[in-house]
Amino acid sequence: MTDTTSATPSVHAPPPPSEPSGDLCIRTMAMPADTNANGDIFGGWLLSQMDVGGGIMAAKVAKLRTVTVSIETMTFRKPVYVGDVVSVHCSTIRIGRTSITIRVEAWVTRRKETGLILVTEGNFVYVAIDENGHPRAIAKN
Ligand SMILES: CC(C)(COP(=O)(O)OP(=O)(O)OC[C@H]1O[C@@H](n2cnc3c(N)ncnc32)[C@H](O)[C@@H]1OP(=O)(O)O)[C@@H](O)C(=O)NCCC(=O)NCCS
Repeated sequence: MTDTTSATPSVHAPPPPSEPSGDLCIRTMAMPADTNANGDIFGGWLLSQMDVGGGIMAAKVAKLRTVTVSIETMTFRKPVYVGDVVSVHCSTIRIGRTSITIRVEAWVTRRKETGLILVTEGNFVYVAIDENGHPRAIAKN
């Protein structure tokens, strides 16, 4: 049988950056109510924090109300534990006619530690909308 292992592209995430990039949009603490069945923090809770953080950034850039339309990439690198301080950092990757793509990173500081650890990262797409919920052009300035 032919060994194709070496020809297969890596699906693993690249090495993590050493420090957060972008603006701090949310800082909160992971609480016991946010845990999964294993007692660690539920991924959906973290995703929600990232979505809110990215939405804050998107609305600030667009100067309009925005909604999430897509999560293009999402990587869970490390677990989050109760008591971790979670910081969501956001930076603008692309501004389209009505959409904005935001890179969102979640970093944690564990209890009794001072270092920052990148736990998740993803690219979230938001669309600026009008009062009827229809896409609205973003002013470029
Ligand atoms: C977001 C929404 C208003 C877009 O409406 P639409 O009729 O699909 O809009 P369009 O096809 O004109 O696309 C608008 C923009 O979104 C982008 N877009 C649409 N679907 C996309 C997707 N799946 N991934 C990435 N971008 C997307 C388009 O490329 C376009 O970007 P551009 O104007 O910068 O070129 C509509 O899909 C919606 O209301 N979705 C629900 C949003 C929501 O409730 N979010 C919270 C979920 S809990």
